[in-house]
Amino acid sequence: MVAVGLVAGALAFGALTAGAAQVRPPATTTTAPARAEVAAGAQLYAVACTTCHGTEGQGVTDRGPTLIGVGAASADFYLSTGRMPLDRPRAQAERKRVAYSAVQIRQLVAFVASLGAGPAVPRIVTGSGDLAEGNRLYANNCAPCHSSAAAGGALGHAVYAPPLNRATAVQVAEAMRVGPGAMPVFGPATLDDAQAASVVRYVQYLHRPDDRGGLGLGHLGPIPEGFVAWVVGLGAMLVAVRWIGTKT
Ligand code: HEC
Ligand code: HEC
Repeated sequence: MVAVGLVAGALAFGALTAGAAQVRPPATTTTAPARAEVAAGAQLYAVACTTCHGTEGQGVTDRGPTLIGVGAASADFYLSTGRMPLDRPRAQAERKRVAYSAVQIRQLVAFVASLGAGPAVPRIVTGSGDLAEGNRLYANNCAPCHSSAAAGGALGHAVYAPPLNRATAVQVAEAMRVGPGAMPVFGPATLDDAQAASVVRYVQYLHRPDDRGGLGLGHLGPIPEGFVAWVVGLGAMLVAVRWIGTKT
C-alpha cells in the first residue's frame, strides 16, 4: 500500500508539473531612463537618502553602503519591499510599509541606476519557468535558509531569512540577482535566466501550494510534519498498548 501510495503521489506530481514546461527567460530592460525621471529621483534622494548613502551615493561610513553600481534591480528591490528608507542603521533592513508611490520608486530607481552600471530590473514573463526544475533548484539553493515551504528561518546573529509569502515574482528574481543583506548573490553564472524563472515560478507556487493527499499543517515544512507524526503516531500506539493491556 505504501508503494502504491508513492507511485500515485509521483504520478500526481508529474501531472501537476507536466503542463508547465514552457521556459521563457526574464529579459533585462535596456531602455535608458528619461533625464527628467533621473532629475526627479535625485530630488527625492536628496531629501531621504543622503544622510546614510552620501550626496553622490558614495556611502557614509557606519551609516550606509555605496550605491554606485548596485543597479536598478537593487534599488527597486529595497524600495518596493519597503526596506528603504531606513529609520536608523540596524542589523537587518526588514520588509515594511512602502514609503513611495510607484512613480516615485521609478524615479529613485532611475537615479540610483544613473550612479553606475549594475543589474537591471529582471522582467518576468508570468507563467514561464518549469515548476519541477524550480522545485529542485529551490531545494538545493534556497531551502537551507528559507525552509522547504518558504516559511523562513533564523540564521543567527539576530539575522533571519524572511518568509517568502509576500515577495512578488519580480522581487524574488531581484533578490537572487542582488543578494540583499546576508543572502548570497545568485548571478547568471549560478542560475541562468531560464533557471531563475523556474525558481520564481516555484516560489509563486509555494504561495498557494496544492495540498494533495493531506493537511498542509501550516506549510511549515518537514520538521513540524515529523513532530505531528511522532505525537499522533506515538499517541495511537500508547492507546493501543493500553487497550491490549486492559483486555488481558
Ligand atoms: C538610516 C540610514 C539609511 C537611509 C536613510 C537609507 N538607507 Fe539605504 N541602506 C542603509 C543600510 C544600512 C543598507 C544596507 C542594509 C542591508 O543591505 O541590509 C542600505 C542599503 C541600500 C541599498 C542596497 C545597496 C546594495 O548594496 O545593494 C539601496 C539600493 C538603498 N539602500 C537605497 C536607499 C534609498 C534610495 C534611500 C532613500 C529613499 C535609502 N537607501 C535610505 C541605510 C540607509
Ligand atoms: C544564506 C541564506 C540564504 C539563502 C541560501 C537564500 N536566501 Fe533569500 N534571503 C536571505 C536573507 C538573510 C534575506 C533577508 C535580507 C534582508 O532583509 O536584508 C533574504 C531575502 C530574500 C527575499 C526577500 C523576501 C521579502 O519578503 O522581502 C527573497 C524573495 C529571497 N530571499 C529569495 C531567495 C531565493 C529565491 C533563494 C534561492 C535561489 C534564496 N533567497 C536563498 C537568506 C538566504
